[in-house]
Amino acid sequence: MSRFTEPQDADFRAINDSLGFDRRLAPYDVRQSRAHAAMLAARGIISGADLDALDRALDRVERELSDGSFPFAEGDEDIHMAIERRVTEIAGSVGGKLHTARSRNDQVATDMAMFVRARAEAARAAIVRLARTLVDVAQAHIDWPMPGYTHLQRAQPVYLSHHLLTYVWMLARDRARFDQVVAAADVLPLGAGALAGVNFDTDRELVARELGFAAVAENSIDAVSNRDFVLDYLAAAATCATHLSRLGAEIVMWSSQEFGFCEVSDAWASGSSIMPQKKNPDAAELLRGKAPRVAGHLVALHGVMHALPLTYNKDMQEDKEHLFDAADTLELCLAAAEGMLGSITFHRERLAAAASDEFLAATDIADLLVRRGLPFREAHGVVAALVGAAVRQGKALSALTPEELAEQSPLLDDEFYAVLRDGAWLESKVSAGGTSLRRVREQIERARAALR
Ligand code: ARG
Repeated sequence: MSRFTEPQDADFRAINDSLGFDRRLAPYDVRQSRAHAAMLAARGIISGADLDALDRALDRVERELSDGSFPFAEGDEDIHMAIERRVTEIAGSVGGKLHTARSRNDQVATDMAMFVRARAEAARAAIVRLARTLVDVAQAHIDWPMPGYTHLQRAQPVYLSHHLLTYVWMLARDRARFDQVVAAADVLPLGAGALAGVNFDTDRELVARELGFAAVAENSIDAVSNRDFVLDYLAAAATCATHLSRLGAEIVMWSSQEFGFCEVSDAWASGSSIMPQKKNPDAAELLRGKAPRVAGHLVALHGVMHALPLTYNKDMQEDKEHLFDAADTLELCLAAAEGMLGSITFHRERLAAAASDEFLAATDIADLLVRRGLPFREAHGVVAALVGAAVRQGKALSALTPEELAEQSPLLDDEFYAVLRDGAWLESKVSAGGTSLRRVREQIERARAALR
């Protein structure tokens, strides 16, 4: 008789059981069980006949799990216990040998590492797809002028291509972050046992090779305590989702009648239940709205791990739902951003009209004076006075008379008017990484190379 004489309370089961969500780990749990059993046989810890029986039972479990016929039972606390119970039902008492030299502590850490690695790879692939779509959209709008903004005030004109490519570089950094997540999850916990190692001369390298891990965790205590790779995934996901929120927010703004810069396709918009004239860019709004949820999962897991004594504590079961929801949310957002951007229409005239606001050339006028020898700070003051005069009189900069120019500086002549004529303000941005066409073309080449 075990020390337990009373049944578990229903509410204890409700708070303690993780089967409701950790059944998603099933494919990884089966794979690692196969590798573990093969290693036990290779080391003579179980017999070849035992291994065959375990493998056959695992085959059937795998089939049942994938066709939905796996019989979950009342007492199954988590996916690990459910699979082991079922293997034993199928194979008989030999099923009980599967858990030799293994604990659920190293087992769950291994499932989680496998899950993180798979989903980090999926995120990385989705990031590259979205980034390539953005490069294509940039290429298609390479010379479309638009206002660049600071403080959401028109600042200096840029090409739409240049603006969109910004997101490509954000995504390139996101991809690099996920590379690091993959590396962090590439160390095998299995073999650590509950915490101290196991009483058998196991071959962890063999298991690592079988499951595609690059290395074996060096310290058994660390192996079962470590959830860094989950935090790393959540951190990378949170940053990426935050990037997508900025993209979404801009599409929302630009789709408004006030901006009128773009329109999302019908496939990526909804109507209103009451206002028939409306076309709402919901997906873009949700890129904005879903990002904090991913960041929230990161903060929540930091809370779970904070000050947690070594090694495994049941608190750590709380890593799963945060990770699962973050991965689902991020991949959905990446796919939505790709679909929406791939079918969006930009309005050239609206963008050009906003970009030809002459005040956007204020810095260029100041630089004209700089080229004539005036220190930039003084040139800034001269142009500020010209802008003030134009704003007060409600007219454009080019409508200021030569006399009004002369009042502010003797260095201003007809070139002032030439600078204000469209186009030159963009093509003069010749510095590396700037908005001139030559530089944007260069940038597109570099972006494509970075995404290869
Ligand atoms: N369901 C548990 C989890 O997700 C598995 C590990 C249980 N380990 C234990 N010692 N009770 O964390």
